[in-house]
Amino acid sequence: MDRTLVNIKIPRQQTSYDITIGRGLLVDSGSWAAAALGNRDSKLLIVSNRKVFGLYGETVRKSLKDVGFKIEVHLIGDGERFKSFRTLQDTLAALSEKGLTRTDAVVALGGGVVGDLAGFAASLHLRGIDLLQIPTTLLSMIDSSVGGKTGINTSFGKNLVGTFHQPKAVLIDVGVLRSLDDRELTAGFCEAIKQAALAGPKLFQLTADILKADRRFDDPTVLDAVARLVAKQVAFKAKIVRGDETEATDNDSPTSRKILNFGHTFGHALEKVTDYKYLRHGEAVGYGIKFAAELSKKLELLDQDEVDSLNDVVRRAGMLPTISNIDPALVLESLKHDKKRVGNSLRWVLLRGIGKPVIVPDTEIPRSAVSSTLKTIFR
Ligand SMILES: NC(=O)c1ccc[n+]([C@@H]2O[C@H](COP(=O)([O-])OP(=O)(O)OC[C@H]3O[C@@H](n4cnc5c(N)ncnc54)[C@H](O)[C@@H]3O)[C@@H](O)[C@H]2O)c1
Ligand SMILES: [Zn+2]
Repeated sequence: MDRTLVNIKIPRQQTSYDITIGRGLLVDSGSWAAAALGNRDSKLLIVSNRKVFGLYGETVRKSLKDVGFKIEVHLIGDGERFKSFRTLQDTLAALSEKGLTRTDAVVALGGGVVGDLAGFAASLHLRGIDLLQIPTTLLSMIDSSVGGKTGINTSFGKNLVGTFHQPKAVLIDVGVLRSLDDRELTAGFCEAIKQAALAGPKLFQLTADILKADRRFDDPTVLDAVARLVAKQVAFKAKIVRGDETEATDNDSPTSRKILNFGHTFGHALEKVTDYKYLRHGEAVGYGIKFAAELSKKLELLDQDEVDSLNDVVRRAGMLPTISNIDPALVLESLKHDKKRVGNSLRWVLLRGIGKPVIVPDTEIPRSAVSSTLKTIFR
């Protein structure tokens, strides 16, 4: 079976870890975990939700058990609202009740919600135990499982509490995308477009090409192409994280981790004004990319052809729910309270070409440019 390894270096901790990408890899999760943890007799707590565990849990559990690990399972609720203090508390209780010690590990099996929550719990239990990530959505494969950000939402907003806790290894089996519904795929592809637009023309073209093909994830050739795309996406994210693991506030360079926020400023505002219930995160990012592209054009950073090509690729990612029911004035208000504010300034990630991000403080952007971009997007 073909598999690709992408290694991510974490200079701060003088360590690195592997992300293994391929098709049909879950049946081998036991030997993968043994290699990553350097033993096969620790206790592992699989954190997942009912849906994902129902689909893939037994395969993973059996493979881990067969090599010698002792397995416990903890299921959390399905959905963004379970990325909460309450679920964190339950998961920490499970870790204690089931007696996980400092030589044991958490296995996160699921999308970004499971990964962020399980990663946060792993970073807190006994001041931090090992974490293995097995992401099962496209979004979590290319984005959230790699890079060590963990966290939960609070009543004040999304991801406001969390830690940096890098996994020991990440296992990506693209075969699980077969069961993912269309909306989740579209959301994942929007994050892929975001990363590709930052990375450069090669990854952008590769992503656009995959979106031209049919989404026939039961076809091994299609899945292998998706695995190649995921590997390239992950390699790009690994490069950025390596250079700026903790997203230093004073780093505004075009290679800083902040650039991954491209499409997220407007995206977060849309999510916020709809109470995180109407749009999938990736769908909001889809609109965010369109907004950032248009704003870049208004500031004479991008030309119309480049904006058209970004819009075209986002359109191919799939249908985004309409935003005509949203009040643009509320969105504008919400932009003023964005979490990514550093001091008093909100930094926009804009493009002056594919692969050429720039970070621009909002103080340097005329209000009229933002309001006319809003008009264009809501038209
Ligand atoms: N840590 C980071 O760096 C980072 C980066 C980006 C996003 N995130 C976070 O990720 C979260 C979003 O993650 P997501 O988009 O994966 O959503 P999600 O975890 O809610 O998963 C989406 C849905 O798909 C289901 N599902 C998962 N895998 C499946 C499969 N293989 N087959 C069928 N159904 C499956 C889930 O049960 C869920 O209903 C957000 O909370 C976001 O803040 C974190
Ligand atoms: Zn995102």
